Amino acid sequence: MFFSFDLFISSAILQQKEGNIVKLIRVKDYNDLSKKASEILLKKVKNSQFLTLGLPTGSTPIGLYKLLVQDFLRSYTTYEHVTTFNLDEYIGLKPNHPNSYAYFMNKHLFHHIDIPVNQIFIPSGITENPINQCDEYEEQILSHGGIDLLFLGIGSNGHIGFNEPGTPFTSRTHVVNLDEKTIIDNSRFFKNINDVPKQAITMGLETIMTSKEIILLVSGKSKAEIMKALLDSEPSENLPASILKTHHNVTIIADESSLSLID
Ligand code: F6R
Repeated sequence: MFFSFDLFISSAILQQKEGNIVKLIRVKDYNDLSKKASEILLKKVKNSQFLTLGLPTGSTPIGLYKLLVQDFLRSYTTYEHVTTFNLDEYIGLKPNHPNSYAYFMNKHLFHHIDIPVNQIFIPSGITENPINQCDEYEEQILSHGGIDLLFLGIGSNGHIGFNEPGTPFTSRTHVVNLDEKTIIDNSRFFKNINDVPKQAITMGLETIMTSKEIILLVSGKSKAEIMKALLDSEPSENLPASILKTHHNVTIIADESSLSLID
């Protein structure tokens, strides 16, 4: 594998098997990561007539969403032509539950920009028939012509969305039993670890891979080990994010602390 980068903001191309290329943008810290991600997203929003975005929750995109809100207040960049699909939602939490991903998205982004409510798609955590809803979610993505640009974070066990290690690369939107490590990682957002839901609905790995362009955001020392494993590994279902190495248009934006174990 060819792999090189300079100090601070620079790009490296990671040459992968079968001619696929993963672009790595190395940034100094979390602020620079959020800035870089917001520049890419805003450029797309401004230059598209219609745009379908895929969005994550979690700690990593909060800085990005903050910058989008700041931009909206300053420059009124419109989202009237934008449709969004979130990656995942906990099963059992209502949209107004402070730990639901619907609540998170409203709080950090949707309530502060002009995106029409009927253009926001998030799996429902309280549907009576989660399996039907997974199929509907797939159809909704398809009927919007697929996702143009999908942002992702990565879990410390390599999950993307809630696709835990061992998830088939051929998976579509599905119900998932959360990994012990994910429940522990996410318990920081809950009063008690026992309050963390044990199941979620997530876009599958194949669903993620149908996106035309993917940007993986990685920040912090807690992601250094998984970043090393990701960059060193061949695609394997034991490390769900490694499927991204077989996508034709992936960029990883990673800060220095997440790259601290890379020579
Ligand atoms: C959330 C999601 C997850 C997170 C991942 C990283 O919608 O899809 O895969 O991106 O767990 O979370 P943070 O950013 O909190 O480290």
